[in-house]
Amino acid sequence: MEKNKIIEEAKEILIKNFQKEGFTIPCEGLYPFQWKWDSGFIALGYAYFDIPKAKKEIETLLDAQWNNGFIPHIVFHTDSDTYFPGPDFHQSELHPQSSKKWRSTGMTQPPITGFILEEIYRVVEDKADMLSFIKKCIDKVYRNHQYFYEQRDPKNEGLVYIYHNWESGTDNSPIWDDIWDTMNPPEYEFERRDTTHVDASQRPSKREYDHYLHIIEIAKSHNYDDKEIAEKSPFLIQDPLFNAMLIKSNESLINLYGLIGDRSKIAQLKKWQEKSIQRYNEKLFSEKLNAYVHYDLRNDKQIAYVSSSSFSPLFAGIPDKKRAEILVKTMQERFGGDDKYLCASFDPTNERFNPKKYWRGPVWINLNWMLYYGLKEYGYKELSEQVKNDSIELISKAGFYEYFDSRKEIYVDKNKGGYGGNNFSWSAALIIDLLHN
Ligand code: GLC
Repeated sequence: MEKNKIIEEAKEILIKNFQKEGFTIPCEGLYPFQWKWDSGFIALGYAYFDIPKAKKEIETLLDAQWNNGFIPHIVFHTDSDTYFPGPDFHQSELHPQSSKKWRSTGMTQPPITGFILEEIYRVVEDKADMLSFIKKCIDKVYRNHQYFYEQRDPKNEGLVYIYHNWESGTDNSPIWDDIWDTMNPPEYEFERRDTTHVDASQRPSKREYDHYLHIIEIAKSHNYDDKEIAEKSPFLIQDPLFNAMLIKSNESLINLYGLIGDRSKIAQLKKWQEKSIQRYNEKLFSEKLNAYVHYDLRNDKQIAYVSSSSFSPLFAGIPDKKRAEILVKTMQERFGGDDKYLCASFDPTNERFNPKKYWRGPVWINLNWMLYYGLKEYGYKELSEQVKNDSIELISKAGFYEYFDSRKEIYVDKNKGGYGGNNFSWSAALIIDLLHN
């Protein structure tokens, strides 16, 4: 597909997924609400052609912030019966500081709003207008970071935990299999909705869903209290992707506060930032795998698998040059090759790799987008171009899917490699950004 045609189609998808309440769904049927990190990527796409919508997307998300600074992973601005589990299951009202205006989940998602604001500022022509918008909302984003450092870092390490796999954004990654092995949840009775929209072979299993629901039940039994969750949740992880997003966003907040001339919070941000980067490098790097990995805080050990999250620190400027080189070598050895598109979401050389199943192998455009910028920043020009071109090629061949098969052979006869939801908003939004670069 030709460049302009891709951009036009991408815009149409975003416009179609926009809801009159002022937010954009990730895709019809499968995801009928506003998701936290999706909204950031989506806002960046809008910044190229509809700035009011870009602002609106961010405003509707921040409008659902809780009194303690927390921003939920899904905001239920509207009703829908095409999704499970919905607001009646999550019961965000159990938390005393939850939003009185919007029901939501009681879990969060990677904090990308900070760096998205800076990206949008980079893209738009009317900088003054955007700065006055940023001025209005930046403190809310800061409050969100403060929440993470004060409530999600029980050992005061500069690394924050997630208590649910849905908080990671990489929902059914094989990384979590090790945690599921430590749990034995009841068999819940419920009606799945996702598999009415998407082939079951591309989605998590029923047993995986039992685990997902069980962790929520535990959190609910503690009214979503962070301290109690930190003590009781069987799932307690320091996730390299999540923490890289926080670090990248810290940096953007420092830059943006500088631009708007408000220096009151910069010293605190710098303190968090320095500590986080140092601890991240000490604790989340595996010398054995030559990659950043997840840390299981509940069982006090690294989880020894390489995933696309392992490379996200490049986007946040976390490794030094030497370690970046080691990381890139790991990527090329395990994830590269003429027969593959970059970058699979999970290590293709590992037996847990599944090229069709959600976060167990397929390529995701948001991770590729980060990798493109990260590799470029560290001077890996050719490789960054490859990640970008692979992303464009996957979309031209298969369409604006949620995730893609990394095996090139799949696309030879029929263009069958697009999986999950179609007309997926962040695939559309981020390809607009990549094509403008
Ligand atoms: C899936 C993805 C998650 C995303 C959501 C909405 O659950 O794993 O990262 O935010 O869909 O698109």
